[in-house]
Amino acid sequence: MATTLPDLQDWRFTVDFEGIAWAVIDRKGESMNSLGRRPSEELGEIVKAIEDLSMRGEVKGLVLMSGKERSFIAGADIREFESFDTEAKIAEVVKETLELFNRIDRLSVPVVAAIHGYCLGGGLELALACDWRIADREEATRLGFPEVKLGIFPGLNGTVRSIQVAGPMDAMTAMLTGRMLRPNAAKAIGLVDQLVPTHHNLRWAARKAVLQKRYSKGAPWWKRLMLKQPVRSMLAKQMRAKTAEKVREEHYPAPFRLIDLFERYGDDPVRMKIAETEMFTPLMASEASRNLRRVFKLSEMLKDEAPKESVKNAFKPLKVHVVGAGTMGGDIAAWCVVQGMQASLQDLDEAQIAKALSRAKSLFKRQLRTPLAVEAAVARLIADPTGKQIKHADVVIEAIVERLDVKQGLFQRLEKEVKPGAVLATNTSSLRLEDIAKPLADPGRLVGLHFFNPVAQLPLVEVVRGAQTREDEVRKACAFVTAIAKLPLIVKDCAGFLVNRVLAPYMMEAVRLYQQGEPREKIDQAAMKFGMPMGPLELMDMVGLDIANKVGEQLHLAPGTDNVLATLVKQGKLGKKTGEGFYVWEQGKPKREEVSYDQAELERLGRELVKPMLDEAERALADHVVASADHVDAGVIFGTGFAPFRGGPLHYRRTQQRAATAAAA
Ligand code: NAI
Repeated sequence: MATTLPDLQDWRFTVDFEGIAWAVIDRKGESMNSLGRRPSEELGEIVKAIEDLSMRGEVKGLVLMSGKERSFIAGADIREFESFDTEAKIAEVVKETLELFNRIDRLSVPVVAAIHGYCLGGGLELALACDWRIADREEATRLGFPEVKLGIFPGLNGTVRSIQVAGPMDAMTAMLTGRMLRPNAAKAIGLVDQLVPTHHNLRWAARKAVLQKRYSKGAPWWKRLMLKQPVRSMLAKQMRAKTAEKVREEHYPAPFRLIDLFERYGDDPVRMKIAETEMFTPLMASEASRNLRRVFKLSEMLKDEAPKESVKNAFKPLKVHVVGAGTMGGDIAAWCVVQGMQASLQDLDEAQIAKALSRAKSLFKRQLRTPLAVEAAVARLIADPTGKQIKHADVVIEAIVERLDVKQGLFQRLEKEVKPGAVLATNTSSLRLEDIAKPLADPGRLVGLHFFNPVAQLPLVEVVRGAQTREDEVRKACAFVTAIAKLPLIVKDCAGFLVNRVLAPYMMEAVRLYQQGEPREKIDQAAMKFGMPMGPLELMDMVGLDIANKVGEQLHLAPGTDNVLATLVKQGKLGKKTGEGFYVWEQGKPKREEVSYDQAELERLGRELVKPMLDEAERALADHVVASADHVDAGVIFGTGFAPFRGGPLHYRRTQQRAATAAAA
């Protein structure tokens, strides 16, 4: 006799003829499943039904699965977070959800999570409250705890339960890094109990698991031994040291609080659960976490610049042709190949192509998992010195010397050869699109795709809309950028676009301070104290002082001709690539003096350093370089690494201003 709950909107619930209950989450109107108020309330109704049915012996078990193509449950519904503005409200929602998960944990019949797609954060915590976890091996399936990236840690007893099934080392590593695990890796550490080849096998495997009453055994004894003292404290010490290599506690406290929680209560699940909530709540309410959630939303906003399904269907970039196999062109082509596309690489100088291919191979080895995948990537990257592939390409990117006449000549030839509908793009950093497009029959076709160096590491690409560029070309360019897993930022065609325009005044301020006698180590430490990923002098050394100087000159910012930056360039000291710039470089690292400075002084200097950057961000907004203040913040965070926990330059400035007004009142 089948039982259903007909009023559910985000779940489907049935009990089949064998007495197995199937709860399928398929959130209404959403492409991904997330855990929010309504799906949680409805899951509560399902659990109530199972409690009643199991008391009467009318159900043998419950299976939780998803009706979506790409997600089991991708985490808590981040849109609802904003309404949790006080610690009291957060504690209330956490308590309700914990009660629900505990009821699932206590059900007298086996509960199986059958996982396909993203199973992240709160979704993984729900799966951990089940008795048995089965995942498929499909490419779309990933498990993990991304919470630290949002300034929190798992707060639905995921800390305790993951340690119970995976042991302290593996569970803590998963939570501290926020890494997404492939099904094999999740099984290897114990987060998953069973793997099946594809999602088609999930139902059958789940049915068997219910009928055979399968319960996860938890972590083996030797892993649990590590929970005992003094081993636990030793582990905690190691974790603290490793985490401190990556982030500062003053900026990103969440991983450090997680380690404290583990060290204090790791072997006492009951107390650890209570302490988890106590320590989670203030993190969730903190400004840093609010700002990191903001950064996540900004990245989603940029992804939305790509056209939605209908237009996307018309334009599916698969083949890219890059002209110019130098620093940028070679790396752009290699990155497209890593993302699954075919790329052809053209250059006047064949030796440049050969160099780019060999660099690409090392990237493939770093980015791809198996030798087979590396081999396939090598085959997808084609040396094409004469441009035979141009006519097949969906996207053609020019990355040759920064000279107007040469670029104009090239585009005249390209325009005749490319297929209709293909994107025609330039990677220029300083020439106007209007000028490059002047000799073209259809100048509205040309768009800018301004990548950053190193291409593999920086997530942003500025999509430059020239005065004549057509809107559909801009949107197709955005679709291409998201297809290679980068974030597109649409910018106006103006000097420095957004990122260099905002970054350059900050770099020049660092040069000015250095010239005034501030030690280079102090300047770089001050920037990092503020939250920059790297000091500005070290960054300039890495970018190349010739390039930094040129950008400064173009934006009329270089502080006089006899400035220290210009002098270094004249002396051929161009930074890392020549072995000396502001620093002497040895084995890829700058030689620094170990000096420590007064923290308050570093803070003051840090604020002084970033002030020109904030001022320029304001001016860029006023000049409509991008669509909104949020776009300015997004561009500066993803293009320069600007302290994510501060939420972006404009957001940071507004927060400071509000605080000053409040203090004055
Ligand atoms: P690069 O000097 O490393 O490479 C340029 C390549 O183009 C050379 O291999 C050269 O042989 C080739 N080339 C020159 N004329 C050609 C032609 N007519 N046909 C085919 N190949 C030709 O230069 P890089 O640094 O890669 O810059 C390329 C473009 O990217 C420039 O427009 C630059 O402004 C822009 N850009 C550079 C960035 C950087 O950090 N280097 C960052 C963002 C943009």
